[in-house]
Amino acid sequence: MFTLPPITLPGIDDYAAAHSAPDPDALRVVPENDLGMGHLISGQLVGGLLRMLIHTIRPRLVLDIGTFTGYSALSMAVALPEGARVISCEVDPERVEVARKHIAEAGFSDVISVRVGSALDTVAGIDEPLDLVFIDADKPNYHNYYAATLPKLSPRGLMVCDNTLWRGEIIDAGSTDPDVRALRAFNDAVAADPRCESVMLTVRDGVTLIRRV
Ligand SMILES: C[S@@+](CC[C@H](N)C(=O)[O-])C[C@H]1O[C@@H](n2cnc3c(N)ncnc32)[C@H](O)[C@@H]1O
Repeated sequence: MFTLPPITLPGIDDYAAAHSAPDPDALRVVPENDLGMGHLISGQLVGGLLRMLIHTIRPRLVLDIGTFTGYSALSMAVALPEGARVISCEVDPERVEVARKHIAEAGFSDVISVRVGSALDTVAGIDEPLDLVFIDADKPNYHNYYAATLPKLSPRGLMVCDNTLWRGEIIDAGSTDPDVRALRAFNDAVAADPRCESVMLTVRDGVTLIRRV
């Protein structure tokens, strides 16, 4: 029988979180177990990584694919330079409503625009260059999000894809789980794409950073 190894040793994620900057105060508006689905939230380590990248690349326009209740959008918004914006995509109207409420409470309604509907439709309507793209929505569409946003990435732009190691199940080549299969195909396609350079990080559930070459 195939046994799944942990992505990191037990306790390592907690240790890393304890030795990383805590969530900024603005994130307090998002409850830990929001809508009873706290596991969907990208979390302190990924949020901290996104902010570190934002402080480095100083984006003008950020695309957040998969709003849920606004944690990743707010995580990035707090670090943006003056005048920069986040467009956040969410298909579920109830989640959009909750996210907009959190974003207003945190005072970021002018910075974050939550677009309701299929993220692919939202992406199709964006003509400006994207400086940072965070992909964290439905896994079977990861490759479509990648294909749609890569040509729109600004020359120094970055794509950040969450959950690319999928609890470690990603190395199960025989998995019939549709999310595992989609992520395996996505990871293979990115690694083989001569248009980009990527690095896969074993942060939390796996995070892939991609830039155009
Ligand atoms: C893992 S959650 C996002 C978590 C969020 N990034 C955070 O850190 O709190 C994924 C979200 O993507 C949304 N989603 C799924 N399919 C979508 C689609 N086709 N277009 C837009 N959003 C979608 C889901 O409704 C869900 O709220």
